[in-house]
Amino acid sequence: MADQMGMTLQLASNVARMTWYSGINWVVQRQSRRITIPAGFTPTGPVPARNELLADVRELLRADAEAVREGLYPPGNEETANPLEHLRRLRDMFQDLPDLVSRRKERDATSVQDVVDGDLPDYFTQDFHFQTGGYLTEGSARLYDVQVETLFYGAAAAMRRAGLRSIAQFMQGKDQRHVSWVDVACGTGRFLRDVRLAYPAMQLTGLDLSGTYLEEAERHMGRLRPVQWLKANAEAMPLEDSSQDIVTCVFLFHELPPEVRRIVTRDIARILKPGGLFVFTDSLQMGDKPSWDGLLEAFPVRFHEPYYRSYAIDDLDGMFTAEGLEAEGKELAFLSKVMVRRKNA
Ligand SMILES: C[S@@+](CC[C@H](N)C(=O)[O-])C[C@H]1O[C@@H](n2cnc3c(N)ncnc32)[C@H](O)[C@@H]1O
Repeated sequence: MADQMGMTLQLASNVARMTWYSGINWVVQRQSRRITIPAGFTPTGPVPARNELLADVRELLRADAEAVREGLYPPGNEETANPLEHLRRLRDMFQDLPDLVSRRKERDATSVQDVVDGDLPDYFTQDFHFQTGGYLTEGSARLYDVQVETLFYGAAAAMRRAGLRSIAQFMQGKDQRHVSWVDVACGTGRFLRDVRLAYPAMQLTGLDLSGTYLEEAERHMGRLRPVQWLKANAEAMPLEDSSQDIVTCVFLFHELPPEVRRIVTRDIARILKPGGLFVFTDSLQMGDKPSWDGLLEAFPVRFHEPYYRSYAIDDLDGMFTAEGLEAEGKELAFLSKVMVRRKNA
C-alpha cells in the first residue's frame, strides 16, 4: 500500500531542510564571497542561476518523497532526530569559518599535515574543500555533514538516497538477511544510516580510510543494528574476492587521482560476486547538464579539489566496463549522478 503519510512527512521535512540550509548557505557565501573566486578566473561554460539550482533541488526532494510513498525507504532526516546537537554543530561550523576562510584565501590546504599519523597516501592527506583537519580530526568529522549540506542546499542526503531505487529493484525476491553490502569510503555514515533504516537485517559494512570519520559514523548509527566498520584503503580492501552482493561508493572518485580511480574500481570488481551490483554516486561530469558546465569548472577553483578537473572529463563508463562492471542504468540527481553497474556473471 502506498505510504501517503510517509510521503507527506518526507516532503515537509525536505522543504524545511532546503529552506534552512539555503539560508545558511546564503550567510556562508556572504562571509566568503570575496575570496572564493581568484581574480582573473571566468568559467568558459554557462553557470546556472541560484533559482535554477533550487528548482532542481526541489525536483530531487519531490522524487525522494515519492520514493518514500513507494515504500523504497522510510521517511526521516537526521537533523530532526537531535535538533540541539544539530544547532551545536552549526555553531561550531560558524566558529571554524574565519579560520577556514583565511586558509582558503591563502589557498593553503595543509592543516591536515599537523595530525597525519602513520602511512597514508599523499593524495589523501590534503584539506579537501579547505576543511580544517582534512579527513583526519574529530572536529572535521563533526562538521563534515553540516558543511556538505550547506554547500548543497540540504540536498546531499537525498542525492545519496537516489541510489537506493536501483537497489530496491535488485533486492526484489531476495532475503536481505543473506545479502552483503559494503559502502566504500562511507565517511560519517549518513548514507549507511539510511540504508540501515531501509534494510534492518542486511549484512552491512562501512569502509573508510579515516578513523575519526568511522567513529563519527558509528556514533551516528546510534541504537540501530550494528554495522561492521573497516578502517582500510579502498585500493586494497580487506574483503574476500566475490564476497559482496552490493557495493556502493558515494562522493569518493572525484577526490582520487585518475590512476587510483582505476585501482579502486578493480578492487570493487574483485570483491563483488558475479551478478552483484555496484551503485556509484558522485558529481556530475562535463556535458551531463551542459548548461551547468561552468559551475563544474568553478568548483575546483573555489574549493580545494585537486583531482576534480580530471574527474569531470574521465571516461567512467570505459573504466567500469574494463573491469567487467556492465551498465544497467544511469540517473542524474541535482549535482550528482548515479551509475548502476552489474558485475559479469
Ligand atoms: C567526500 S567524502 C565522502 C564520504 C561519504 N561517502 C559521503 O557520502 O559523504 C570522501 C571520503 O572518502 C574517504 N577516502 C578518501 N580516500 C580513500 C581511500 N583511498 N580509501 C578509503 N577511503 C577514502 C575519506 O576519508 C572521506 O571519508
